[in-house]
Amino acid sequence: MKSDNKKIETKTTNQKQIKIDNEDKEYAELVIIKPVGYPFDFQMMDDEIEITNPKLFEEYAREQWQGLVVREKSHLFDQKIIPDFGFEIVTAKPDNSIISEMTKIKIITDKIDKKVDNKIKSDIRLSDIVGQENAKNKVKVITRYLENPESFGPWAPKNILFYGLPGTGKTMLVKALANELEVPLYLIKATSLIGEHVGDSSSKIHELFKKASDNAPSIIFIDEIDAIALHRSFQSLRGDVSEIVNSLLTEMDGINENKSVITIGATNNPTSLDYAVRSRFEEEIEFKLPDDNERLAILENNLKTMPLEYNLNLPKMVKLTKGLSGRDLKEKILKTALHNAISNDCDIITMENIDYALKSSKIKNSDIKGMFE
Ligand SMILES: Nc1ncnc2c1ncn2[C@@H]1O[C@H](COP(=O)(O)OP(=O)(O)O)[C@@H](O)[C@H]1O
Ligand SMILES: [Mg+2]
Repeated sequence: MKSDNKKIETKTTNQKQIKIDNEDKEYAELVIIKPVGYPFDFQMMDDEIEITNPKLFEEYAREQWQGLVVREKSHLFDQKIIPDFGFEIVTAKPDNSIISEMTKIKIITDKIDKKVDNKIKSDIRLSDIVGQENAKNKVKVITRYLENPESFGPWAPKNILFYGLPGTGKTMLVKALANELEVPLYLIKATSLIGEHVGDSSSKIHELFKKASDNAPSIIFIDEIDAIALHRSFQSLRGDVSEIVNSLLTEMDGINENKSVITIGATNNPTSLDYAVRSRFEEEIEFKLPDDNERLAILENNLKTMPLEYNLNLPKMVKLTKGLSGRDLKEKILKTALHNAISNDCDIITMENIDYALKSSKIKNSDIKGMFE
């Protein structure tokens, strides 16, 4: 099926922009997928999904994957579930075609082979992270330790806190670490530990630490840990928090006694952390905003995956983007500029598109100024 729908030219997939040449690719008639699970062992979510309404699922899937190239045996990720839920493409008719608004998407929901899903990992590598040398060095120590925990004895790394402004690469680093490791990594978003009923959170935390300890050596990563381990002065606002803080402390102390389990916490705001929790981290590693050279590297790396050609004054962009994080550079500047170029039917991204992105990011920034990010 050929379509003349010009709109679908580019699409983001799995953090990469894929260049799609509409001239020689057909649109897919039918895609059959099967759920394979999360790229990490994700404790709090079931690896199985239940599709209650296949028609609705089809619409939902088509909407987010339209424009993507589908190849048999490759994967599609549902980016609306965090971390991204993966699907394997069982059949694509024709193979190597593009999902359009007419494509039929069918899902086969057989039981997931748990052994397989742990092997599917994100494709982020440590070398993709620009700067943050302290954090990368620490990751080296952790990797070395986990290869041979006995040799470290009392010198083992235990609890490490990553902190720093949003969008500086904290989550990215842990995803990269998951790729380097042979051991399980239990990635948890702190907010998912908050239960509906009193006691829910403690049992979830207990379950998490138990699983990590049963499978030691292993790593627990609690992202946005400030959401559950709020400083005492905020705890009166949230009655359930002190219960969570206490069970977190109990588990962290218990697991550290003789298990090779490392807990990594990440937060944008360490001062809002409960003091007792904060003091359990033997080391705090700051993630800094990128300097001039690092911004240049982040821009260059991201430009490599751009689906359009570009003609840009990079030194000028480096100057204009002072104070922006890696995420800002990618999401607010490059992506906005790309979309601006596409929406104006340009075949090439220019400084005009960058100016547009800078202006609109300034508006956004002043809107949210002072907000708790
Ligand atoms: N140091 C960095 N090097 C390369 N890319 C970065 C860096 N920091 C952030 N990014 C980009 O921004 C995105 C968001 O970063 P993330 O790790 O989620 O930030 P944080 O967890 O610190 O808020 C990353 O996926 C990456 O594309
Ligand atoms: Mg993060």
